Amino acid sequence: MIRLRSNSPAATLRLGRKLGALLTAGDVICLSGGLGAGKTCFCRGIGIGFGAQTQLNSPSYNLVHEHQRAQDETRLYHLDCYRLDNPQAAPSLGIDDILDGSGAVIMEWAERIDPFLPSERLWIVFDIRGESRRDLHCQAVGDRHSSLLADFLRALEKDDA
Ligand SMILES: Nc1ncnc2c1ncn2[C@@H]1O[C@H](COP(=O)(O)OP(=O)(O)OP(=O)(O)O)[C@@H](O)[C@H]1O
Ligand SMILES: [Mg+2]
Repeated sequence: MIRLRSNSPAATLRLGRKLGALLTAGDVICLSGGLGAGKTCFCRGIGIGFGAQTQLNSPSYNLVHEHQRAQDETRLYHLDCYRLDNPQAAPSLGIDDILDGSGAVIMEWAERIDPFLPSERLWIVFDIRGESRRDLHCQAVGDRHSSLLADFLRALEKDDA
């Protein structure tokens, strides 16, 4: 388990940006943590780092948003499972197609669809530690996501913004 610390929304956005720049098709990023913990802020950064042509926001009506980028065909799927009362409804979101490996997937409230998630993933739990302090607990399962986490940590060591 790796713990990262953020002291501001801008810092969380930067963390997301660094991870987003590394994402490739087949990556699965699961986010959990309470209301206002910073998951959407992090996702917005992911979208910027990924090069998404549309901003990642809180998905309101649709639980799934699909984003494209200019440089290639890789898709970024952003899910927010908060409103999913019953995990059995997950298949109706097209979750199997989303997880078929053709795009990178980032999920808020991922624990709500836990039974449908692949076992190999990067899980990030947001912990509210103060008004502007958040701890991010990161745990990778599988070789692929372990090396993604290692690359993410290396990218964070570079002291560019
Ligand atoms: N270090 C921080 N990182 C991220 N957000 C922070 C931080 N400190 C304070 N905040 C504030 O916390 C809130 C985070 O909101 P955000 O929508 O990202 O949370 P969320 O985890 O997606 O919540 P929800 O589950 O309700 O969608 C924002 O109002 C933001 O300004
Ligand atoms: Mg959110």
